[in-house]
Amino acid sequence: MADAKNMRIRILKDGPYLVTGGVPLVEDDMVIGPDGEPSCWEESAPYPERETYALCRCGASKAKPFCDGTHAEAGFDGTEAGCKDPYLTQVEWTSGPKVDLTWARKLCAIARFCHRAGDAWTQAEKSDDPAARATAIEEAACCPSGSLVAWDKETGRPIEPELEPSIGLVENPQAGTSGPIWVKGGIPIESSDGTVYEVRNRVALCRCGRSGNKPFCDGTHLTVGFKAK
Ligand code: FES
Repeated sequence: MADAKNMRIRILKDGPYLVTGGVPLVEDDMVIGPDGEPSCWEESAPYPERETYALCRCGASKAKPFCDGTHAEAGFDGTEAGCKDPYLTQVEWTSGPKVDLTWARKLCAIARFCHRAGDAWTQAEKSDDPAARATAIEEAACCPSGSLVAWDKETGRPIEPELEPSIGLVENPQAGTSGPIWVKGGIPIESSDGTVYEVRNRVALCRCGRSGNKPFCDGTHLTVGFKAK
């Protein structure tokens, strides 16, 4: 079994994500609910275990999710515009009676789990109702990028889902479209300049090559209708 403390993702300049330490790789499918919004995640299609692998970052590899070198021919510009400051310096707060929410707009992958039931922010504001509190927490926990985080009002601590260190490839099978690389469980991500981004439980990395906030997903994959398959 892979040892989480050896896991790492290195961003290569204008190239792929180099993943080391035997990080498990799976596909994470969005399950769309009756209201047309995502309701939960379903894990499928685990890839064979590999100690090291390179994931496509330009969106153009013919061997997706793996890099096949196309970035060089395509002249991929992978410049990292993403903020290296801690998450909490980037957020807007919404305060409710029992739960608060923080949201970092620039990290939002537009996965839309927070849109159900009148949206997570409305539920947080009504969180003296236990059902509304539970919905706000659950919607925030489904956010793959961790742009949305719920905070327990009593303890002042974030309410994070338990995620095994692994990588998920986000797919929306109903729409036939693909989303970001979902990095789970606090795997360090090293910039191409050698610095390490804040280590977080949830991070969404761009794999369509079009984000304006690389290496993070900014939802542009939806605008361009990115299909990895
Ligand atoms: S995968 Fe989301 S912007 Fe590229």
